[in-house]
Amino acid sequence: MANVLLGATGSVAAVRVPALFDSLTAAGHSVKIVATTAATYFFDPTEFRASAVLVLDENEWPGREAGERYHRGDSVLHIELRKWADIFVIAPLDANTLAKLAVGLCDNCLTCVWRAWDVARPVVLAPAMNTLMWQHSFTRRHLRSIAADAGAGHIPAHLADDALIQQINDRSPTLRVVAPVSKQLACGDVGVGALAEVADVVNAIQFMLGRAQVA
Ligand SMILES: Cc1cc2nc3c(=O)[nH]c(=O)nc-3n(C[C@H](O)[C@H](O)[C@H](O)COP(=O)(O)O)c2cc1C
Repeated sequence: MANVLLGATGSVAAVRVPALFDSLTAAGHSVKIVATTAATYFFDPTEFRASAVLVLDENEWPGREAGERYHRGDSVLHIELRKWADIFVIAPLDANTLAKLAVGLCDNCLTCVWRAWDVARPVVLAPAMNTLMWQHSFTRRHLRSIAADAGAGHIPAHLADDALIQQINDRSPTLRVVAPVSKQLACGDVGVGALAEVADVVNAIQFMLGRAQVA
């Protein structure tokens, strides 16, 4: 069984974070959640804080509000998380964090883990956003860029969504993108952009752990 680091970002689909957590722990994995500030608008953080599995940005800077300072030898949380995790799953992945991942911005704990990630270890990304956000050229540009960094080489820009994700998954040894699905979104629009089913995200994680031969 694996150490699964579940990244959660500020998509309305973060309401599914507790269900994802439950499915992964039921599968026998040890799970920690690193959530952006926006993500915690969509689920109850206290549910996880009691069991110390939820990491928030404030945990990176312990005591800062009270005037505490870093001392040499203190642990650096995003590095500790990176060392701990066998796999990094970002579900849901919103448009904002997708853009940050693509260009290497690291202004919170989740994106610092990504920036410090050992690229030999597997990653699963499950985007979730409004249909027009999903269809925006930024989205495919960012996904192609992340795939190129994951060893997929050049992926043509003109591919339709399904073919694009297929190529990314076929050609990236350590990266799997779980395609968003089409349905009525929380905003009322109907179209592609909803987070895939929890079971499909979990299946992608199991597949990548098997490929990486993590027990
Ligand atoms: C109610 C609500 C729902 C949102 N849903 C989404 C979403 O599904 N996908 C998305 O990309 N952004 C969504 N956003 C916008 C993000 O929360 C916003 O871009 C935020 O800055 C993301 O921060 P983060 O990437 O650090 O989590 C939503 C915002 C609100 C207020």
